[in-house]
Amino acid sequence: MSLVRIVGTLDPHVHLRGMEWAHKGDFDTETTAAVAGGYTAVLDMPNTPPSTTDGPGLERKLSELGGLARCDYGVWLGAHPSGVRPREELARLAPMVCGIKLYCGHTTGGLTIGASDMDRQVAAWPGPGVIAAHAEGDMVPRFLESLARHRKRGHLCHVDTARAVAEVAEHKRRGTQVTAGACPHHLVFTEGDLWGLGPRGVMKPPLGTSADRDALWAGIRDGAIDVVESDHAPHTWDEKLGSDTPFGVPGLETTIPVLFTAVREGRLTSERAVELVSVAPRRIFGLDPHPAETYTVVDTGASRVVGSGDLYTLCGWTPFSGMELWGVIRRVVIRGTVVFEDGEVLAPPGFGLNLYAKSV
Ligand code: NCD
Ligand code: ZN
Ligand code: ZN
Repeated sequence: MSLVRIVGTLDPHVHLRGMEWAHKGDFDTETTAAVAGGYTAVLDMPNTPPSTTDGPGLERKLSELGGLARCDYGVWLGAHPSGVRPREELARLAPMVCGIKLYCGHTTGGLTIGASDMDRQVAAWPGPGVIAAHAEGDMVPRFLESLARHRKRGHLCHVDTARAVAEVAEHKRRGTQVTAGACPHHLVFTEGDLWGLGPRGVMKPPLGTSADRDALWAGIRDGAIDVVESDHAPHTWDEKLGSDTPFGVPGLETTIPVLFTAVREGRLTSERAVELVSVAPRRIFGLDPHPAETYTVVDTGASRVVGSGDLYTLCGWTPFSGMELWGVIRRVVIRGTVVFEDGEVLAPPGFGLNLYAKSV
């Protein structure tokens, strides 16, 4: 057995669903998936109705999530699609969230904003949290320029192309305060896999070329990419099979094993894998780098063949189905309590704590 201990794993990009989308996944099932996947904490995105874009939306999310979470969590505020919220409202909500998310392109959830609105949202955000963006194509340099112009701290989610990796690297050289995340599906699959994956390969940003995938790995090695985020986005299999296939795939239970498979294959060091899922996200999102008695034990010398039937996510499918992934999660401990051991989730619903604030 070869065991690696990772302190304070954090997935900063998950869509737990719940509330009006509880049929896709709920705060109980998806935080169960988080713990089974080796995470001690997650940051939940705002695009599940009712969207987390104002006080009532945040209050609803925090009260339902607080009652059901099995791991620790933080919540993203979303930029309101009707425009920047009043200054007093932003000042009141900002300390209670991990940051604000801007949807600068079409994706699930209907929160898309235009380029000029994006710039206004960047200018208006008071902090302390990060400004994260869903941006593709030309919106990537626009977002980066906006951060530079307003001297704000931002995070580019799910970087997808070689061009975007180069743009982030260039801005980092110029001193723009930006970090970037890559997703396991973009690190493993390309558009050439779409035929085999079918609806399990449909997500935003879409799968790219093998040159894009190689650039993401290079970015992980040279530091252009700071974190690996799952973008866990469950939809029911029926929805995925429908005529209007929704964008998004689950990832909480496969992300850490995807990284340790890369370690095994020599594409990544074990130390870098640990940085990507704990050290870097904790630093970027302002969390204690050494949370007491909070860690994950991964058996990097063991593998499993991913099967849809073994998953805790309510959606019950994964694009990684049938793949042999190295790195089996043996134990997860949160604040001194063993919450996962030998395949069993031991934390009750409501065990998880809000890492940012207790109430609105
Ligand atoms: C996400 C979802 O389903 O909420 N979908 C996706 O394809 N990634 C939204 C998003 O992160 O863009
Ligand atoms: Zn997105
Ligand atoms: Zn997402």
